[in-house]
Amino acid sequence: MKQIDIKSAQVGLIGVGNMGEALLVALLKAGAEPQKINFAVRRAERSSELAARYQITPASIEEMAATSDVLMLIVKPQDLETIMERIAPTLNPDALVISFLAGKKIATIESGLGNPAVARVMPNTPTLLGVGMSILSYGSNVRADQKRFVETFLRAAGKSVEVAEPLQDAATATSGSGPAYFFAFVEAMVAGAVAMGIDEDVASTLVVQTIVGAAKMLEESGKSATVLRENVTSPKGVTYEGLQVIAQGDLPGLVARAMQAAADRSRAMA
Ligand SMILES: NC(=O)c1ccc[n+]([C@@H]2O[C@H](COP(=O)([O-])OP(=O)(O)OC[C@H]3O[C@@H](n4cnc5c(N)ncnc54)[C@H](OP(=O)(O)O)[C@@H]3O)[C@@H](O)[C@H]2O)c1
Repeated sequence: MKQIDIKSAQVGLIGVGNMGEALLVALLKAGAEPQKINFAVRRAERSSELAARYQITPASIEEMAATSDVLMLIVKPQDLETIMERIAPTLNPDALVISFLAGKKIATIESGLGNPAVARVMPNTPTLLGVGMSILSYGSNVRADQKRFVETFLRAAGKSVEVAEPLQDAATATSGSGPAYFFAFVEAMVAGAVAMGIDEDVASTLVVQTIVGAAKMLEESGKSATVLRENVTSPKGVTYEGLQVIAQGDLPGLVARAMQAAADRSRAMA
C-alpha cells in the first residue's frame, strides 16, 4: 500500500469556497505541490480564478475520487448526500477522506463511501490567517501515515487538537463558533464606548487593540485568564466596578447557554 506524505500525496478538493480556499493556502504552505492538487467547484469563473491563482488543476469529482490519495470534502453539509452518491462508485479504496462539514458524522461518511479511512475536522475562520483552531477526530481505518499528513497540514492552518468524536459538537460550539462570540463581545463594547460619547472609529480602535493585546497576553504570558483578570483588578478599583456588573449579569451562565445551544444545533445537523 502506498504511504503518503504532504509532498507525494495526490490531493483532491471538492468545494473551494471561503473555508476551502483557506485550507488550500494551508496545504500549499505545509509543502504540498500545486501540480498534485486537483479541485472542483460549481461555477466556471471561480474555477478559472482558482486555477490561475494557485496553479492547481480542475477535475471532475468522480475523477478525483478515483485518483486522489487524500480527498477533502469542503462543501456545505446539505450537499454531502449527493456528493457521496457521485463519488462512492469510483473512490480509491486506499484514499483518506477528510470531511470539514459541520455536524456530519464519520460513520455517515464511512457507510456512504464503502468504509474508507475518514478524518473529521472542524476548523474555524481564523484559519484564513493561518491562526485557526481545528478540532480533529479519526475513524478506525485511518493509517499512521495518513494521520501524519493531516497533522502536518493542519499545523500550517494554525493549531489542531484531537478529540473523541462525541465531543466534536461541544468543541465546535467552543472554537468553531468562538470567533463569533468574541465578535459579539467586541460589538457590545464598541456600543458601550459610543454610548459614553466616544466616536465609533475611535471606540473600534480601542476595543480591537484591547482584544488583540488581551489575546497575546493569554497566549504568551503562561498565565491563566483568571490570574490575568485578578492582576488587573484592584479591590474597589475601576475594573473591579465593571466586573461587579458583569458578575451580576451572570456572564458564565449566559455563555454556557449560548454554547449549549450551538452544540445542540451541531448535533441536529448530523
Ligand atoms: N466558513 C466557516 O467559517 C466554516 C468553519 C468551519 C467549517 N466550515 C465548513 O466548511 C464547509 C464549507 O463552508 P464554506 O463557508 O467554505 O462554504 P462556501 O463558501 O459556500 O463553499 C462551498 C464550496 O463548495 C462548492 N460546491 C458546492 N457544490 C459543489 C459540487 N456539487 N461540486 C463541486 N463543488 C461544489 C462551491 O462551489 P462554487 O464556489 O462554485 O459555488 C464552493 O466552492 C461547510 O461544510 C462548513 O460546515 C466552514
